[in-house]
Amino acid sequence: MSTPIDDTQDHPPEDTADVFLDKTLRPNKWDEYVGQKRIKDNLAILLRAASEREQPPEHILFYGPPGLGKTTLAHLIAHESGSQIRITSGPAIERVGDLASILTNLGEKDILFIDEIHRLNKNIEEVLYPAMESGVLDIIIGKGPSARTIQLELPAFTLIAATTQVSGISSPLRSRFSGGTFRLEYYDTEEIKDILKRSATILGVAIEEEALDEIAKRSRFTPRTANFLLKRCRDFAQVHKNKLDKRSAKEALELLDVDDLGLNRNDKEILNTIIHKFNGGPVGLKTLAAATSEEESTIEEVYEPYLIQLGLLDRTPRGRIATALAYEHIGLEVPRRLQKKD
Ligand SMILES: Nc1ncnc2c1ncn2[C@@H]1O[C@H](COP(=O)(O)OP(=O)(O)OP(=O)(O)O)[C@@H](O)[C@H]1O
Ligand SMILES: [Mg+2]
Repeated sequence: MSTPIDDTQDHPPEDTADVFLDKTLRPNKWDEYVGQKRIKDNLAILLRAASEREQPPEHILFYGPPGLGKTTLAHLIAHESGSQIRITSGPAIERVGDLASILTNLGEKDILFIDEIHRLNKNIEEVLYPAMESGVLDIIIGKGPSARTIQLELPAFTLIAATTQVSGISSPLRSRFSGGTFRLEYYDTEEIKDILKRSATILGVAIEEEALDEIAKRSRFTPRTANFLLKRCRDFAQVHKNKLDKRSAKEALELLDVDDLGLNRNDKEILNTIIHKFNGGPVGLKTLAAATSEEESTIEEVYEPYLIQLGLLDRTPRGRIATALAYEHIGLEVPRRLQKKD
């Protein structure tokens, strides 16, 4: 039987070296964790109060697009509270028994991190309710009329869950995150530059300020993407025996097919599809997914949030529409209906 606990939950698994570097670059101290000030301030209070009461912190939910630092926060909390962290994910917990075994193997004040919690099976979710609320596990023994329930006391633990899709979490589950539900925000360019500078130091890469700017502005306001682009630019400069200056950064980024807003081929495919096949929209998510051969959830969780953040796409009750900015960015004439009326 495969074990539902694992600690290789970092995606995307570009290659093993990159997964390794993702961990190398992961902040180990609060000071190194750039931005997300509101979340950090709230967590500081929550952790301090819990430690003064000598209790584990209450259950916490983090949500937001991939690569913004949810897993990193869970590790930092474990570090700060001096707790062991046990890592698993929604899809890895296939049966009620898997969850029961994870819960009964927890130690006092351990942190249980469940990634992608929106993919947790509903009948498994129900086992989690009493565990989160009252620290007990209800186990049904036997079948049919002779079945009976026994209750096991669990050690006091903290559940930290992460998801890219908060709408996929049922409200009974959401309401049990008594420590708080926190949405991670995109980072601003200055914050991304701070992250890049730290990563460059760790990687031992000499990078010019203007090259940093080039990478930062195409980083989708996302630390993981920023680090990924930095590594690729480093490779490019190394192979061409250049220093990492503005020119080599630009060339490397062009080769990666990342445009000056950080859009990649998939983002552009989505915009082009809406514009060319659906006359600019509105088009429903299902139809858009079929037309671009992408998963609905990938469009919704990965591409759309960034396109919306840039103002290139709008989500309306009737479907997705390409904005005037999208037409301009792609180099097309803005249709009259989208032109501003003075
Ligand atoms: N606030 C931050 N400061 C510095 N580096 C960060 C920060 N947030 C994330 N990173 C970097 O980005 C990488 C990805 O972050 P993390 O794995 O925590 O994202 P995530 O939100 O869990 O993503 P996913 O939804 O894909 O699981 C980390 O390894 C780390 O190097
Ligand atoms: Mg994660």
